[in-house]
Amino acid sequence: MMGILPMVEFRHLATALFAVLLTSPAAFASADLARSKNCVACHHIERKMIGPAYKAVAERYGKDEAAIKVLSEKVVKGGGGVWGPMPMPPQPGVSPEEAETLVKWILSQQ
Ligand code: HEC
Repeated sequence: MMGILPMVEFRHLATALFAVLLTSPAAFASADLARSKNCVACHHIERKMIGPAYKAVAERYGKDEAAIKVLSEKVVKGGGGVWGPMPMPPQPGVSPEEAETLVKWILSQQ
């Protein structure tokens, strides 16, 4: 009993902290953008779906400035060959600026 209680409280604390992080304005705006541009149809932050998990993308590229440019272009134009047989289709509704905002947000999901 006494051994379990602190764990439970820690979980609550972690959940509360996570909620605060999620609702910080910049993170919120980018998560919203990802939803409105339908990235979420193929990507999940933690799980591989049709596309790779955003956390996996962040682990692979880190905060590499060059990667931000390459990935932003790939988001708009589409492309494949990195994560598996399935290519990412072009996203014509995403401007280069939006793509860069999204990529920076994705790479911050570590
Ligand atoms: C129809 C499904 C689909 C949609 C919609 C989609 N993606 Fe992807 N995405 C993929 C697939 C599949 C890959 C893996 C491509 C590869 O292996 O090179 C991928 C890869 C990526 C990568 C990693 C690219 C690399 O070279 O490592 C990023 C970043 C990314 N997507 C961002 C986005 C963003 C931002 C959006 C929304 C604007 C989006 N994706 C919408 C399917 C999708």
